[in-house]
Amino acid sequence: MPITEIYGPDDFAARPQGKVITSPHAAPARTVSALPTPSLEWTEDVERATAPLYERVKHVIPPIEWPLMAPTIHAISELKRARNAVILAHNYQAPEIFHCVADIGGDSLQLAVEATKVKAGIIVQCGVHFMAETSKLLNPEKTVLIPDSLAGCSLAASITGADVRLLREKFPGVPVVAYVNTSAEVKAEVDICCTSSNAVQVVESLNAPTVIFLPDRYLATYVASKTDVKIIAWKGACEVHERFKGEELRAYREADPSVQIIAHPECPPDVLAEADFTGSTAHMINWVRNKRPRRLVMITECSMADNVRAELPDVEMLRPCNLCPHMKRITLANILQSLLTLGEEVTIDPELAVRARRSVERMINLKN
Ligand code: 13P
Ligand code: SF4
Repeated sequence: MPITEIYGPDDFAARPQGKVITSPHAAPARTVSALPTPSLEWTEDVERATAPLYERVKHVIPPIEWPLMAPTIHAISELKRARNAVILAHNYQAPEIFHCVADIGGDSLQLAVEATKVKAGIIVQCGVHFMAETSKLLNPEKTVLIPDSLAGCSLAASITGADVRLLREKFPGVPVVAYVNTSAEVKAEVDICCTSSNAVQVVESLNAPTVIFLPDRYLATYVASKTDVKIIAWKGACEVHERFKGEELRAYREADPSVQIIAHPECPPDVLAEADFTGSTAHMINWVRNKRPRRLVMITECSMADNVRAELPDVEMLRPCNLCPHMKRITLANILQSLLTLGEEVTIDPELAVRARRSVERMINLKN
C-alpha cells in the first residue's frame, strides 16, 4: 500500500534550527603512535608482491595506472600486519580498495555482521561515517578509524535525534525503524535498525499495524509496496539514487530489449518500476553471479559496477551510474595515512552508544 504519511524538518515548528550533525565524533589523529612513511616507489619487489592483486582488477584498472597504485597498496598490506588492523570496505569503494586492500567487503548488513566477528584490535572502515559508527557500536573496545571523517551521507544528514523525538510525540506508541544510514544519535532514539537487505523483515517483525520508517522516503515507499503494515515516512533521500529517472531506463530497454536492469531500493518508484530486480548492493551482486546476464544496467553507485566487472568480465555493463561523493572521499592515500597515524578515530558518547547499540543488535539478532 502507499506510504500513509510523510514528514520532514519543515513539518515541526518546535524543531531546533541549526546544522544537522553528520560526523560528530571524529577524534583528532593520534600522532604519538605514528610510524615512518614507507617508500612508495614502483620496484621489482613491489611488482612481484602485488602481481596476484593486479590479476583481480586487470579488467577495470589499465596496466599503465597500476604502477601508480601498487606501491601504496603494498605499503597498506604491510602496515595492516604491523598494526594488527583489518579493513572493512563497502561495495561502493573503488576496485583498488575493494579488491586489493580490503579484508572484508560487503553491503551495510554484511559489514555490520562481520564487524561483530573482528579479532584485530583496529578496524579501518572504508565507507561512510555511519558505517564506521556502526562498527564502533559493535566493537566498543576496539579502535575504529575512518580515513576521512567528512565521508557523510545525505540520508544520515537528513534527520536528527530531536526529529525522532518529535515524531514519537506526534505518534505515541508507534514503533520506529531507522535505516542504518543514520547517525548513532538517531539510532539511539529508535526501536530497531534495518538495512536495505532486511527492511521488510524488520518492519514486519514488530507486529504493529503502523510503523514509522526513516529517513529514506524511497526505501519507505518500496517497503510499503511489500507489506500490509502502514508506513509513516521521513522526507530523506539518497543524493546518488534519487537522480536516476525511469525514462533513461526505458531508453536502454528500447535500444536493446534483451538488456537486464537491476536497481537499489533507494531509487524513486518510477525507476524501480523499470527494474527486473530490486535489492541491496549484496543482493544485486548475488543476482548477477547467479544470472550472468549478457548486458546489464546496474542502477546504483559507479564503483559497484567496476567491482562486479572485475569479478565477472563476461557481463557487459551499460553504465548510467552516479558517483557517491562521500564514498569517494576514501582513497588509497588516506587509508595509508590512517594506518600510519591511527586517525581519524571514531568515538561515540558511551551513554548514547548503549542505546544506539541496542537498535543495531536487535536487527542483527533477528532470526532469518
Ligand atoms: P547497502 O546496504 O545496500 O549496501 O546500501 C548502502 C548504501 O549506502 C546504499 O546507498
Ligand atoms: Fe548515502 Fe547515497 Fe552515498 Fe549511500 S550512496 S552513502 S545512501 S549518499
